[in-house]
Amino acid sequence: MGRVAYVNGRFVPHGEAVVHIEDRGYQFGDAIYEVWALFDGKLADAEGHFARLERSLGELSIDMPMSRAALTLVLKETVRRNRVRDGMLYLQVSRGVARRDHPFPNPPVRPAVIMTVNATNRAAAEARAAKGVSVVTTPENRWGRCDIKTVNLIPNVLAKQKARAAGAVEAWFVDELGFVTEGGSSNAWIVDGDGRLRTRDTNANILRGVTRSSLLEVIRRDGLEVDERPFTPAEALAAREAFITGAGTLVLPVIAVDGKPVGEGTPGPVATRLRRLYIEQAKASAI
Ligand code: PDD
Repeated sequence: MGRVAYVNGRFVPHGEAVVHIEDRGYQFGDAIYEVWALFDGKLADAEGHFARLERSLGELSIDMPMSRAALTLVLKETVRRNRVRDGMLYLQVSRGVARRDHPFPNPPVRPAVIMTVNATNRAAAEARAAKGVSVVTTPENRWGRCDIKTVNLIPNVLAKQKARAAGAVEAWFVDELGFVTEGGSSNAWIVDGDGRLRTRDTNANILRGVTRSSLLEVIRRDGLEVDERPFTPAEALAAREAFITGAGTLVLPVIAVDGKPVGEGTPGPVATRLRRLYIEQAKASAI
């Protein structure tokens, strides 16, 4: 059986899954999204992603398209129909379909909902984590509400393309004060010279990563110290280790920034251990 998508109340073959040309997500980027990692066909960090979904919708005054319980059922059914064990589940909710006009449609229209599932090759992902990845830096040029998970991702797309062209996996945005804000689709971390973990606080203009907050719990349980404070690319290069977190990358060691090695230039023990602990916890709590 091939891939199946959910589009506005229907399960359809992936190749025939379409939305209307006047969907406001398509015309204005007037939409938000969420991504869940899937382990054994179950949703990782489910609660955190639901909470952020509701918050993103609330910030844009888009109604929840259905109750959380109903949404959970549909998400799980989408995963089941795709027969994916390890992968990623994508949900997008737009303000809906309306004649093109910038302000919200009046009267309001029903939000438009789509879901897709992508399989991940876990063996390849583990091999990549064992080798570590490179990142490049790029000037922060995004809007002031990066805490809302909107589909307005052009700066992220361009930054990640810059990374790919340089043979890197991620781009770190650097603000005007010289601090790393976050990656194009991940949060950024280092293990500093004293062995203390450092990641930017979420009062800054960044996405409140769900993987980030789950990992903070893991770290605290493990007895490690964390400093929620920004760092510069130079501090990352002087650090023992660096890594990124996100539903797509989980915990992924970073071995180079702008072509220069971090630490020994190989995945460090802390990032490697945290990846294992995070995956164990995510699997155990997946629904
Ligand atoms: N991205 N920062 C940005 C800009 C992101 O887009 C993401 C996630 C993260 C990490 O958040 P989380 O831990 O909740 O996945 C941080 C998803 C995976 C994506 O766009 O595909």
